[in-house]
Amino acid sequence: MRRKLVVANRKMNGNLQTNKAFLEGLITGTRGYSNADYVVCVPHPYLFQAQAILKDSSIAWGGQNMSRYQSGAYTGSVSPNMLIEFGCEYVIIGHSERRQRGFDTDLSTGERFEVATKAGLKPIFCMGETLAEYEEGLTDIVTIRQLNAVIHEIGVLGLSGGILAYEPVWAIGTGKAATPEHAQNVLSFLRGHIEILDAELAQNIRILYGGSVNATNAAKLFSMPDIDGALVGGASLNTDEFLAICRAANNA
Ligand code: PGA
Repeated sequence: MRRKLVVANRKMNGNLQTNKAFLEGLITGTRGYSNADYVVCVPHPYLFQAQAILKDSSIAWGGQNMSRYQSGAYTGSVSPNMLIEFGCEYVIIGHSERRQRGFDTDLSTGERFEVATKAGLKPIFCMGETLAEYEEGLTDIVTIRQLNAVIHEIGVLGLSGGILAYEPVWAIGTGKAATPEHAQNVLSFLRGHIEILDAELAQNIRILYGGSVNATNAAKLFSMPDIDGALVGGASLNTDEFLAICRAANNA
């Protein structure tokens, strides 16, 4: 039985004061929700703060990106070991907001998935089609291409160190979440693809849905058999709303 996982992707939001209120609110608010796991991915400058506040709690934290290199002349980049030094357990890789700007590619995400797992981080690997691709019926082709880029790099068993997330680009930040049925279909398709390669891994790997998840739609999404949780952007900026999503995961 896979445990549900709810990840807050805070993106480029927050400050020391609002982060503190959110992180402390999360510790208190999730105290009774021990049936699921919770993670907060913060901007790099706030990792120290996340570590200081969350270190004795059951909530994990992570970065939103990382370099494939451990050190060197890479101005503006952050290495896996730097994330680990600040207690990160997770790192988001391949988010569409980075793919769309050309910062992430199929090749670079595959490489960084491997680097992250070797460093001891759990990558949260994002896949998803654009609106045009969705309308052309290319969802399966695009997501499989993105997933295969990682499998090609590290082999299917290499996925076992990470988390997968299906995030249709058209649903991110638009308020138009995928229907639970659509999300379920895509996740079941992705799991089926992994199953052909390794049946046990397919049963164990957690696959999240992301894209306009909120307090209202979370429970229905989490009731789907292949949806193991959510990657939450906008709704993670409001503590009460995010806690409602955590509660839905706990009760699912
Ligand atoms: P959203 O973002 O919840 O605001 O749609 C999700 C994400 O980008 O991870």
